[in-house]
Amino acid sequence: MKNKLKFSTQNLHVGLRKSEPTFGSVVTPIYPSSTFQFPTAKEGALRFSGKKKGLIYSRFTNPTVYALEKKLAAIENGERALATSSGMAAITLTLLHHLKHGDSIIAHKVIYGGAFEFIAHILPKFGVTVHMVNANNRAEVESKIDKTTKVIYFETPTNPLLEIVDIQKLAEIGKKHGITTIVDNMFAPPPIQYPLDMGIDIVIHSLTKYIGGHSDVIGGAIIGSHKTIDPIFFQSYIFFGPTMSPYTAYFIIRGISTLEVRIRQQEKNALAVAHFLEAHPQVERVFFPGLDSHPQRTLVKRQMNGTGSVLSFLIKGGYKAGEKLVNNVELIALAVSLGCVESLIEHPASMTHSELTSQERTKAGIDDALIRISVGLEDPEDLIYDLKQAFEKV
Ligand SMILES: Cc1ncc(COP(=O)(O)O)c(C=O)c1O
Repeated sequence: MKNKLKFSTQNLHVGLRKSEPTFGSVVTPIYPSSTFQFPTAKEGALRFSGKKKGLIYSRFTNPTVYALEKKLAAIENGERALATSSGMAAITLTLLHHLKHGDSIIAHKVIYGGAFEFIAHILPKFGVTVHMVNANNRAEVESKIDKTTKVIYFETPTNPLLEIVDIQKLAEIGKKHGITTIVDNMFAPPPIQYPLDMGIDIVIHSLTKYIGGHSDVIGGAIIGSHKTIDPIFFQSYIFFGPTMSPYTAYFIIRGISTLEVRIRQQEKNALAVAHFLEAHPQVERVFFPGLDSHPQRTLVKRQMNGTGSVLSFLIKGGYKAGEKLVNNVELIALAVSLGCVESLIEHPASMTHSELTSQERTKAGIDDALIRISVGLEDPEDLIYDLKQAFEKV
């Protein structure tokens, strides 16, 4: 077929599905082989020199993992993707590839706790200067730019406050100053948000979340054009070795088959839970991009086609009340992670964002009374019933 496939068709068909030659398998086969035979020594030499394409060794490329990479590049409207063993592997590899001693990075002040720890506390050990800023404040971002600035890094919506960062504005700043822009797009994966189409250079994913979708794998990805991704592959990926296992790739390929229907249903369920929470007397405030009360609704509508299914809220009564609530839910699991088919609840100050000092948390606006819920595919009436009974025990 010559037409560009639509999103849900790409999810099923891009990759190896139609081209498995031996048995005509309709699913992508798992190739566990760590190494691949060369028919002749000359062929081996050509593959090693890059003059001829072909498999060498699974730390570089594996057919099952490659099928996933093709799918990921297609769904993000990129040209090339690299699959990694975790989302953190994708983040650390991409940043270490772009930064060296004496360089500087500008990052939005609210990002995933693990990424924050790496950027704010580990990169400085390698002589990299770090500026954590409000990335929606153009003047603040531009005031930190100088000759040493190599990367602008952010997530949107942010975790856990669901604040929206203006992708197009930061892409423009990056282009104007020749700085590589990197977005962690895990919170709003396709079909919600397409940062590469908005001018961003590199998209990062934790595939552990929406894209894998079933809480049964850990994985990550780095996606962009050949110009941005090929050097990461040749100069860093094959030497750092953050390779994904073909068994993991198989599960993620399977997860992607249902990505669109899962996300759309989870978004509907999340909106129902958000409305319930917004009307609840024990709730101070709800953060969810789908609510009219979200302070950046115009930006949500401009850069997102959807909302994702993660929301957070401030419970009246602070830390103690939050602790009681999360201890008393029965259906919703008290666990970190998000975007998967089962609903999860967590307390950022003591869990996902505990790597931040309390000062850093205050600066990032993460209150001790904040609770995060990732809404899954359960019937929303059951989720609301569960929350109601837990609130009664607070
Ligand atoms: C926004 C974001 N990026 C990256 C990661 C890290 O992903 P992984 O756990 O797959 O390493 C997380 C984990 O929760 C996250 O929330």
